[in-house]
Amino acid sequence: MLRLFFRIFTSIQTERNLKVAAVHRSFCSAASLPASVWSGFAVKTIMEPKLYRPPPEVRGMTSLDKEAFTQTITVPALRVPTGVLNKVVKSLRKATIQRPGVPRVVQDKEESSDFRLVLLDPHRGSSPSFFSEAEAEALRSFSVAEELQYYELRLTYHNLKSEEVLEAVLPQGQDVTSGFSRVGHIAHMNLRDHQLPYKNLIGQVIMDKNPGVTCVVNKTNMIDSTYRNFKMEVLAGEENMVAKVKENGVTYEFDFSRVYWNPRLSTEHQRVVQLVKRGDTVFDVFAGVGPFAIPAARSGANVLANDLNPESHRWLQHNCKLNKVEKKVRTFNLDGRAFIQGPVKQELPVLLKGKANVHVVMNLPALALEFLDAFRGLLHQETSCDENLPTVHCYGFSKDDNPEMDVVERASRSLGFPLKDQCSVHFVRNVAPNKDMMCVSFTLPKEVLFSADYEQTEPSVEPAPKRQKCEEATDST
Ligand SMILES: C[S@@+](CC[C@H](N)C(=O)[O-])C[C@H]1O[C@@H](n2cnc3c(N)ncnc32)[C@H](O)[C@@H]1O
Repeated sequence: MLRLFFRIFTSIQTERNLKVAAVHRSFCSAASLPASVWSGFAVKTIMEPKLYRPPPEVRGMTSLDKEAFTQTITVPALRVPTGVLNKVVKSLRKATIQRPGVPRVVQDKEESSDFRLVLLDPHRGSSPSFFSEAEAEALRSFSVAEELQYYELRLTYHNLKSEEVLEAVLPQGQDVTSGFSRVGHIAHMNLRDHQLPYKNLIGQVIMDKNPGVTCVVNKTNMIDSTYRNFKMEVLAGEENMVAKVKENGVTYEFDFSRVYWNPRLSTEHQRVVQLVKRGDTVFDVFAGVGPFAIPAARSGANVLANDLNPESHRWLQHNCKLNKVEKKVRTFNLDGRAFIQGPVKQELPVLLKGKANVHVVMNLPALALEFLDAFRGLLHQETSCDENLPTVHCYGFSKDDNPEMDVVERASRSLGFPLKDQCSVHFVRNVAPNKDMMCVSFTLPKEVLFSADYEQTEPSVEPAPKRQKCEEATDST
């Protein structure tokens, strides 16, 4: 059997100024190429991983010129009779070219209706034969010769992946991370300093290469506001910041520039909501736009949800209506401490006498542990009981070597009660190098709740608590 060795003729031509058809065709039979091209030892060349690399002239481009990415590369192809074309394509699935927008089957040079060319993966060829044993066997069974042709393929911007475009444009040797979080139609990036001169180009590429993304924004500051939202700059696309997202089957709408939303918390929301049963009561102290409160209400719980940010509160109410749970959720626009010392304090005495469970969710990881002191002596005027005490799920960031111990100690200090051995700690996620988000869950000790030792400070609705800077180099919780 004739074993073909070939190499890709790597003449890649920039076609910046060429006005040619979408796929420019030019063929030459492999047999007609010079012997050097046919050397079996030149097979290595076809492993060239940068075959699809855009023309070098695009390096440093700051305003996207899509035409400048057009080039012609030579790829191997197999001439196949149309009668067996489908079967051959199926048998060669792993050997055919895989590029966005590039057809696997094209007309052959004579534009004959009897034959087509099947374009093959130019990176193939690590073995002596282009085809595997099974592929070669299939070709024999269809009486198709293994003789390879060359096909000049016109590659455009549209055939490149976003990383390939950005790698070619941004300074060599510097990190090209094109990662982003998706919030509905918004792609949210966190660009580094060296990427900023290219920010609009990056935004455009991300929008072009991700169907459904119609707006790309860059975070322009660390989260340092009370409301946990951050300033952002639109890099490309529409300026519409009202996003619609689905999380765990629930739809939310909100203005992403004015409230907090983190798509990376969906698993955590689900984990906690799964602990809630029909008839339970949930107090969500830092509710945001409702990702704990609304699914809990949908599970049949009665929910009291609070957020200090008037915008969050507005969208929380909107989302309750959107998900038809407005009768199950009472919303508040208070400081968390005022919420605990107001609505929570009012509701608890009756709930403690009931059978259904009570949950308190406190997801403001930069500060929530410090709010736990609001429970000290909360019910000091009531008769102490140790049944049906609330379960608290309180979140905290930790940069400690032992984050579990750290958050338990901080929660204990805030409560004035040792929680060690009386709580569970759940690692939620790593938010930045050496910074973890943790959740401490515990039954609120009766010694804390009914303690007469603590004087309640008056709940303050105004002013809002001091703004705290929270360094979050890579993430936005
Ligand atoms: C980290 S976000 C969590 C939101 C939501 N629970 C979630 O999981 O997506 C914290 C929320 O607490 C709110 N917040 C910040 N300080 C607050 C305070 N002192 N009292 C009440 N809410 C506060 C912010 O507006 C923000 O919506």
